Amino acid sequence: MLRSHIAGIGSYVPERVVTNDELAQLMDTSDEWIQERTGIKTRHYGKKHKETSTTMGARAAEIAISRAGISKDDIDFIIFATLSPDYYFPGCGVLLQRELGITNTECGALDIRNQCSGFVYGLSIADQFIKTGMYKNILLVGAEMHSMGLDYSTEGRNVTVIFGDGAGAVVIQPTEDENKGVLCTKLHSNGTYAEKLAFINPGAHGGYHLDKMGESVDFGYGNDEFGGIFVTQHMVTHRQLFPYMDGQFVFKMAVVKFPEVIKEALDSVGLSQSDINMFIPHQANLRISAFVQHKLGLGDHQVWNNIQRIGNTTAASVPIALCEAVEAGAVKPGDLVCLAAFGSGFTWASALIRW
Ligand code: UT7
Repeated sequence: MLRSHIAGIGSYVPERVVTNDELAQLMDTSDEWIQERTGIKTRHYGKKHKETSTTMGARAAEIAISRAGISKDDIDFIIFATLSPDYYFPGCGVLLQRELGITNTECGALDIRNQCSGFVYGLSIADQFIKTGMYKNILLVGAEMHSMGLDYSTEGRNVTVIFGDGAGAVVIQPTEDENKGVLCTKLHSNGTYAEKLAFINPGAHGGYHLDKMGESVDFGYGNDEFGGIFVTQHMVTHRQLFPYMDGQFVFKMAVVKFPEVIKEALDSVGLSQSDINMFIPHQANLRISAFVQHKLGLGDHQVWNNIQRIGNTTAASVPIALCEAVEAGAVKPGDLVCLAAFGSGFTWASALIRW
């Protein structure tokens, strides 16, 4: 039976380091608050006009492709996960294809919008295509240019201080080696709480969902039957064009769902938490990762955390962390690697990989 395995991995974080103190000059926050509540010391921001989710994704992809020992034209499918796409449409998948100079039009490109769990969802999609024999070299990228869309006023501080820019990429190939590859992936969602962590404007919702929830929010649509409802002047004037998060609600849900979806994966392949050699959590908050680590009974050397240095990079966080762990020699052939993520949607997911 064919299995999927990661044949090459790469990551990229932009050069510019932004400290907590720099953010404290823009909004009412402090290095102490941010470190205590999130573990974050710094994050990286891409260069405006020069870098985007696509360009950062391409830099990570070039490394992954070279490490896989293939040429970019061997890529037969692209999966791009991001919540900060360059354009509303078309998606970053085709932009990445162009950025990499992939001229092979046999190559398909798919964009997925699963936020923090985007990479693990993407891995699951790739795994299905590989196992059916449909594709042989899938390029999966998670990349975010958050810094372009954050609210740098005090109003946005609970969201803004967390996020950073960056990208991670893997090349996924089939293998007949029974001792390595993706053992399983588990995917979940619950749309009930979609607005608890959301970036709703601009959008074509016309106020629908919020009205339904009994929350009357004025987006300045007026009574016009036609036109101008995707983004209104009112949204701009009233600063309604930023992400929103009910942090405590998300936090409480995350600490339940992480362990749950990891246990589900382990049970499904007859393994237990003591079999995990390396746990790569989505880097949402160091307190969440520490809680899950404790629940799983893992030592510090069995969990990869980089949120202290690069913040929460949403769809990029799992592949960047995995790439760092591999580069540091903390993941060795035969190791059981566990990936898990929870975030906006809500969507959450896990994967077990025999490295
Ligand atoms: O990756 C996607 C999934 N996301 C997550 O998993 C994030 C989960 N949530 C969290 O990480 C945390 O909830 C946050 C870090 C976002 C917030 O930490 P918290 O300990 O839950 O704080 P809070 O939202 O309960 O706010 C406590 C206080 C509030 O002030 P009052 O009302 O007590 O006066 C906030 O206004 O802290 C205030 N606050 C801040 N103060 C300084 C919120 N953000 C900041 C800030 N600096 N950046």
